Amino acid sequence: MTVKKNLAAATMLAGTMTALSFMSAGAAQAQGALVMYCGVQEEWCRAMTNAFERETGIKVSMTRKSAGEVYAQVKAEAANPRADIWWGGTGDPHMQAAEEGITDEYKSPKMGELQDWAVRQWEQSKGRTVGIYSGALGFGYNTELAQSKKIGDLKCWADLLKPELKDEVQVADPNSSGTAYTLLATIVQIMGEDKGFEYLKALHKNVNQYTKSGAAPAKAMALGETTAGIAFMHDIVTMVVDKAPVKVVAPCEGTGYEIGSMSIIKGAKNLDNAKKFYDWALTADAQKLGAEAKSYQVPSNKNTPIPPQAPKLNDIKLINFDFAKYGSSAERKRLLSKWDNEVKNLPK
Ligand code: F6P
Repeated sequence: MTVKKNLAAATMLAGTMTALSFMSAGAAQAQGALVMYCGVQEEWCRAMTNAFERETGIKVSMTRKSAGEVYAQVKAEAANPRADIWWGGTGDPHMQAAEEGITDEYKSPKMGELQDWAVRQWEQSKGRTVGIYSGALGFGYNTELAQSKKIGDLKCWADLLKPELKDEVQVADPNSSGTAYTLLATIVQIMGEDKGFEYLKALHKNVNQYTKSGAAPAKAMALGETTAGIAFMHDIVTMVVDKAPVKVVAPCEGTGYEIGSMSIIKGAKNLDNAKKFYDWALTADAQKLGAEAKSYQVPSNKNTPIPPQAPKLNDIKLINFDFAKYGSSAERKRLLSKWDNEVKNLPK
């Protein structure tokens, strides 16, 4: 009898638990979904996706792509948007999308916690994109390869033109990569457009490959597949932290930098969830996930500790980068097509 009673009680308990677990699954489901295009390194994209799902029960479908590729996809899908939020990647295609009206205005209650440069990005885009991190462009080289090829120290943009570096420099294609577009805009701002394009044509002789993603040259350097690589300094630091024989260089002539950005897609099907993600991604806690995923950018929330590994922006000769001009639709299109016509297909 007691056994029977216990069994009955156990059955009832199991029934209640099943019902409860259905209810909580239902509650999680009721939170809905979020489609995110992510522009940083895969590890950080995944960390953000998992943490947001855990905290909110909202199911995130995430795709990682380079900045120019996300822009092209958002533009192609504008009539029937697939994505809700575009998180990360250099600011220029976010600014272009803002100007073209394919992303939406939003003012987060978290704006007051952000660095001035992050807020300025938001103001310049008329509230359509916001700064989430910053980082300086630079280059690096594999010290073992440089030594064996007797290349010597590399300190300046000019050093990347050394004849000894023929086919030994890697950089991404600025059409797909925000990193490489930042290089294009940086060189034009430092040298002027004519001299800048002369420099890029000379550099072309030393380039072994224009990669799709901006961080690929950093990885190739670490693997010894290329002697030198142009990338954001924080992406090269990640390789050094992993003990690769790579030196990070802040170019002597000065360098440009990025304001990594976030935008809500116009016509987002999960608009409320996009806003929830936006507010959450600006919190100090969410921004700490970057360093945990070995991404060493400077976070935009003033209360997020700057990772000790992050290149110190105050010690780098940064140019006064004109984000409004180089993020404008006309200028970005003009420079990219000029680079395609005058540099990319140049015989070596
Ligand atoms: O996450 C690494 C990173 O360098 C970001 O700082 C930057 O916004 C993004 O990648 C640029 O990637 P890509 O050059 O591939 O567009």
